[in-house]
Amino acid sequence: MNYNIALVPGDGIGPDVTAESVKVMDKVGEKYGHKFQFTTVLAGGAAIDAEGTCLPRNTVDVCKNSDAVFLGAVGGWKWDTLPGDQRPERAILGLRKELGLFANLRPALLFEELAGACPLKAEIIEGGLDIVVVRELTGGIYFGEKGYKNTELGRAAYDVEQYSEEEVKRIAVVAFDMAMKRNKKLISVDKANVLESSRLWRSVVTEIAKGYPEVALNHMYVDNAAMQLVRDPKQFDVIVTSNLFGDILSDEASMITGSIGMLPSASLAKGNFGLYEPIHGSAPDIAGQNKANPMASILSFAMMMRYTFGLTNEADEIEKAVKSVLGKGCRTADIMSPGYELIGTKEMGDRIVKAIDEQ
Ligand code: IPM
Ligand code: MG
Repeated sequence: MNYNIALVPGDGIGPDVTAESVKVMDKVGEKYGHKFQFTTVLAGGAAIDAEGTCLPRNTVDVCKNSDAVFLGAVGGWKWDTLPGDQRPERAILGLRKELGLFANLRPALLFEELAGACPLKAEIIEGGLDIVVVRELTGGIYFGEKGYKNTELGRAAYDVEQYSEEEVKRIAVVAFDMAMKRNKKLISVDKANVLESSRLWRSVVTEIAKGYPEVALNHMYVDNAAMQLVRDPKQFDVIVTSNLFGDILSDEASMITGSIGMLPSASLAKGNFGLYEPIHGSAPDIAGQNKANPMASILSFAMMMRYTFGLTNEADEIEKAVKSVLGKGCRTADIMSPGYELIGTKEMGDRIVKAIDEQ
């Protein structure tokens, strides 16, 4: 089969890690007889420098006309002083909206080979951690009405949190479906003790639960969820939550695995279309130095195989290769500990390609 992928390397270490994923894509394509065709486009700071805008129209068009989008990372110090609506990060928000990517899947998986990197006590994470945050991605306060006004207390600024029933329903369905494929446990996180939008959220999620009698649904306030994630993370399996709460809790969940350089993500539209990217940012301090960990990007490619192309064997194979390379003691600087072999971005990509070859 032929697959058309829009490649958005972006800024900082984005191009470094994306290049390694492309090596892996070529190897998987060769092994399984697929042709992954790329169209490389600009977004973020790279697009600001080249075209004066963080999300050129051509980038959106190419993404829309592709089967999936593969993104590195955007942003960096260089563009930090630009006004809010011109910053590289706007490219991500624009792509999410334009491409209808309403469901963000963020797995926080503790690789047993890297258990030592987890900042929590060993007894708290005994037996491993495997959580998926399902974050609503095109609604809520990120996209609500926003602006400035003058008040008697001086200038005021506002961002409105608004959710419609339809928006909550469709993300709830994604989360319940995910729970059905896993351990049939779902925690919906909101702030229903204070926010009207959360009360609507809670009632819609409860309504959708009727269609999933096998799934054990619980509701949790976001402040409590933030605490429970470090107190007893093993109580979580699938978490479903709003755009803003999901942004915060997914960073927390990834931190407790201790290895943000390992974690992929998928942002899905209705149907199979999706955008895949590592959870980590652009890390401009190590860009272009062969230091970044390409595994999160490579695992994002595995998610693309699984969720957009339905190529489960290929996805399993990539994940297996990553684990096998870790098992052999190879480490990039971010996950290095004494006694292991320190290697660079490119070497890590090569080892994973080799592992796929030998599997
Ligand atoms: C993320 C990031 C983005 C977000 C930023 C870069 C706009 O933090 O993907 O979690 O807040 O959604
Ligand atoms: Mg974030």
